[in-house]
Amino acid sequence: MSEEKKLFKVTIDNISIDVEPGTTILHAARTIGGDVTPPAMCYYSKLKGSGGKCRTCLVEVAAGSTADPRPMPKLVASCRTNVMDGMIVKNITSERVQDARAGVVEFLLLNHPLDCPICDQAGECHLQDLGYEHGKEGTRYEFKRRTFEKEDIGPYIQLHMTRCILCYRCTYVADQLTDSRVHGVLDRGDHAEISTHISKAIDSEFSGNMIDVCPVGALTDKTFRFKNRVWFTKPVEAHRDCDKCCGKVTLWQRGDEVLRVTARKDEWGEVESYEGKPGWICNTCRFDKKSVSDWVIEGPSKVNRHSVISQGHYVGMSKPKETMPEVMGGRAPKLLMDIHDVSGVNTVNISALPGPATSKNYTKNEQ
Ligand code: SF4
Ligand code: FES
Repeated sequence: MSEEKKLFKVTIDNISIDVEPGTTILHAARTIGGDVTPPAMCYYSKLKGSGGKCRTCLVEVAAGSTADPRPMPKLVASCRTNVMDGMIVKNITSERVQDARAGVVEFLLLNHPLDCPICDQAGECHLQDLGYEHGKEGTRYEFKRRTFEKEDIGPYIQLHMTRCILCYRCTYVADQLTDSRVHGVLDRGDHAEISTHISKAIDSEFSGNMIDVCPVGALTDKTFRFKNRVWFTKPVEAHRDCDKCCGKVTLWQRGDEVLRVTARKDEWGEVESYEGKPGWICNTCRFDKKSVSDWVIEGPSKVNRHSVISQGHYVGMSKPKETMPEVMGGRAPKLLMDIHDVSGVNTVNISALPGPATSKNYTKNEQ
């Protein structure tokens, strides 16, 4: 008779569940779901070795286990800490955690530009969400911020190192989905950067997955850059017979035009799995199949109702009251950039367009 596996009981924010030994606190929290699940900027369950870099997933362990119920003295990274039987964990119920997370967000934003209005990741950026939840209106940082030149990672991907939070996810993609290890984070501390080493991974048919795993807008799809805001596009599930990948994707459409193709994501922002395998997609499906006729359409994707992607209905909208001068004691805001201007960032005069920009407004060179 096979012995029944003993499960560990863990309590997270006053909700108890039984999980298998070896489960991390983060995974146990994901089993419960909702707000008790800590955010994760660097951990990615489909990438071996990921996690432990960003500290956004910190939680408080109020009791270590039934055998040793002492609290853990420091907050722990939930993506790297396994549950014990009888463990009691606090996430949103802990003031220490909320305070520490606000500190982590402040650190992540030390060098990250607040260029969400012109960043393609806006609307699906985990750092943007964290910034809204924990960010402060001011900064205590007085030093010059790190800036880098934009870098082409092959013909389809552009790296904005200025936005990178060094989560290492893209290096794991290069490591685990391409044939040889030709990547890495160069230098250390304030000088650390993802650099040209990674561009060697462009030979791989799976390099485009780096875009999908990047939690911020550091790696962007050159075939989609600046073409639209994600909340104006409609995500649709589709598939095709592909001899290189699973062929299951999300098409991001505006009318009949397919503006972008991505892997399908689950509620944690990770690629979905099919028959136990991650649904990474190949570059042919991602970059070359941009016509509806290339795909068998399954139906609209499920979008979380809290996501900005489901908010793009502007019927009968009235312009909100301009509050900046009021907030700034009568002074007008000092604008760093005007996204409507033709600039190094945006090469099309958006103000002159009769409607929202589409790919027709951008030639190949401007992407
Ligand atoms: S480029 Fe993106 S995925 Fe790569 S380390 Fe930076 S933030 Fe992470
Ligand atoms: S998700 Fe746990 S440290 Fe980054």
